[in-house]
Amino acid sequence: MSVKSKIVAQFGNPSGPLGALAGRIMAARKSNRFRNEKTVEIMDLRPHSQVLEIGCGPGLALSRCASLVTSGRVVGLDHSGVMIRQARNRLRRQGVADRVDLLEGRIDLLTAWPETFDRVFSLNVIQFQSDKLGFFRALFDTLAPGGLCLTTYQPRLDADGSATARRMIAGIEDALHAVGYENVREIKIIGGAAPATCVVGKKMILTKANAQQAKGD
Ligand SMILES: C[S@@+](CC[C@H](N)C(=O)[O-])C[C@H]1O[C@@H](n2cnc3c(N)ncnc32)[C@H](O)[C@@H]1O
Repeated sequence: MSVKSKIVAQFGNPSGPLGALAGRIMAARKSNRFRNEKTVEIMDLRPHSQVLEIGCGPGLALSRCASLVTSGRVVGLDHSGVMIRQARNRLRRQGVADRVDLLEGRIDLLTAWPETFDRVFSLNVIQFQSDKLGFFRALFDTLAPGGLCLTTYQPRLDADGSATARRMIAGIEDALHAVGYENVREIKIIGGAAPATCVVGKKMILTKANAQQAKGD
C-alpha cells in the first residue's frame, strides 16, 4: 500500500501518527475548509441555536459554530480520540473551547440522548456508514420538531467523481425520505468533477392535522 493510500484509509477513523497527519490534511485542505464554511452558513445559526455535529474531525465547522452560537449549545461527536484532541486544541486556540462539548464515541451514544437539537449535521462522514438508514434515524431522534439535518458529501477527485457524487446524493435523499424527513433538498457547494453537495431534510413539526394523518398511514 502506498503512503498516500495509507493516509486516505485513515479518514474514516483516524488513529496514531498517520491519523494525526490525516487530521492535519483535513484542517489545511482548501476545499475542505470551504465546504465546512458553507455548510455552517447554510445552517443559518442564531446565538441561541442548539447544534450537533457527527464526525467533527479536527473541528473546522465546530469552531465556526462556536463563534456564532453564544448562548445556545454546540456539541461535536467523533469516534476518533485523535480527532477529538485536534478539535479541542483548535477550539482552545480560538478561545471558544468553553462553548463546545466534545464527545468521543460512536453514533450509538445518541440512543436515548436526553436533549434535542435544532441543527444536526455531518460532513464527509456518510460514506463511512454501513447502515445509512440507521444513521439518519439516530439523527432524526435527536432533532427537535422543525429541526434540520444537513449532510454534506464530496467524493475524492477521481475519474468518476461526479457519478459517485450523484449515487451518494440520491442514496442520502432516499434514506431521508424513508426515515420521515420532509422538504428534502440539495444545495450545491462546489461544482466540477468532484462536486460538493449539502442535502437538507427537515423533521416536521407535529401538528394535530399531521399527527392524525400519520396515524391513518
Ligand atoms: C473524512 S473525516 C471528516 C471530518 C470533518 N467532518 C471535516 O469535514 O473536516 C470523517 C470523520 O468522521 C468520523 N466518523 C466516521 N464515522 C463515525 C461514526 N459512526 N461515529 C462517530 N464519528 C465517525 C471519523 O473519525 C472522522 O473524524
